[in-house]
Amino acid sequence: MTGFNTKLVFGKGLNQLHDNNTGAVNVPIYQSTTFAFDDIDAENKYDYSRSLNPTREYLEDQIAVLEEAKHGYAFASGSAAIHAVFTNFKPGDHIVVSQNIYGGTFRLINDYLKKLDIEFTQVDTQDLDAVEAAIQDNTKAIYFEPIDNPFMKVTSIKGVSAIAKKHGVLTIVDNTFLTPYFQQPLTLGADVVIHSATKYLGGHSDVIAGLVVTNDDAIGDQLYFCQNAVGGILAPEDCMLVIRGIKTLSVRLDRHVQNAKKVLDYLETKSDFINRIYYPGRFGDADVAKDELRGSGGVISFEVNDRIDPKKLVNNTKLIWLAVSLGSVESLIELPYFMTHVELPVAEREKVGITPSLVRLSVGLEDPEDLIADLEQAFQIAEK
Ligand SMILES: Cc1ncc(COP(=O)(O)O)c(C=O)c1O
Repeated sequence: MTGFNTKLVFGKGLNQLHDNNTGAVNVPIYQSTTFAFDDIDAENKYDYSRSLNPTREYLEDQIAVLEEAKHGYAFASGSAAIHAVFTNFKPGDHIVVSQNIYGGTFRLINDYLKKLDIEFTQVDTQDLDAVEAAIQDNTKAIYFEPIDNPFMKVTSIKGVSAIAKKHGVLTIVDNTFLTPYFQQPLTLGADVVIHSATKYLGGHSDVIAGLVVTNDDAIGDQLYFCQNAVGGILAPEDCMLVIRGIKTLSVRLDRHVQNAKKVLDYLETKSDFINRIYYPGRFGDADVAKDELRGSGGVISFEVNDRIDPKKLVNNTKLIWLAVSLGSVESLIELPYFMTHVELPVAEREKVGITPSLVRLSVGLEDPEDLIADLEQAFQIAEK
């Protein structure tokens, strides 16, 4: 069983499904906290669901298979997954971080990890010279999102991981925006991959979840320690929602991209109102995108000019919800300056170019003509 789509549907393999002798074609939701022992001396694989739950195990194996990884771990959120990965570091360690990362990761670094005396330097990871220059004697890892947010700039995993290997440090990527359908970072040189499965992997805005994969046994042991000792594991029903979402991942993502391209074509006709459109491969990064990505995803950002009131624009879409998050069947629009990136101090937002006129749009699976009509009427209302 080798095809990617077959893996989406079957996870690690049919044998794992056939564990309950009923012929059920779905993995059962093992809604059980504890597992009985036949004998006091028996060595049960499962004893308590925080330590291991069969439904979670199915999902963890499924993401590991899709990422060509040895180990997979499911957490209660993408943020819990990111935190678990950072527990691999200790006071005095230094980590190079991309300058545009998810606001919640920025908050975790600034308001928590720095207090534990873990040091961070933020750089533009598209600039490989800057990445290398930021490495210090105590650097232990380089952390970035291959598609940055909200500018959709592509960072080369091959480029960064080559530098990381040269200096003996880890490459950690948050690959929420691409998923293993569009990119398998471990095959490009990364050591650890994180997903907010809340986004494309779940795909339906109905579950908060995080996943991590790695081939490194020691990091795997630490991630398992976190699950078992800290306890931020994904509950069985939520695991099932992600397992179900993953089955249709490739079909959904193909359509997300098709729709995004049509919306991009429409936005390009609005040059009277739009200064710049951001989508992977448009930022001097077309070659990296072509080499390392199999698809660009469904998120577009664009900056409106002073002929458009950005707040009016997002307040007046009718089909497209005004909401944070991305990667779901329904389209979502927001202003990063006021919503997703509000965790960044104003000076930081301005430094990286997140202005109040920047709009982020997660293109869903509706008819693109309807989305375009919705944007068009909102542009008309928002024109000053
Ligand atoms: C790139 C990225 N990573 C991590 C997260 C955090 O994931 P969660 O909301 O599942 O905790 C998000 C959430 O928006 C995200 O966009």
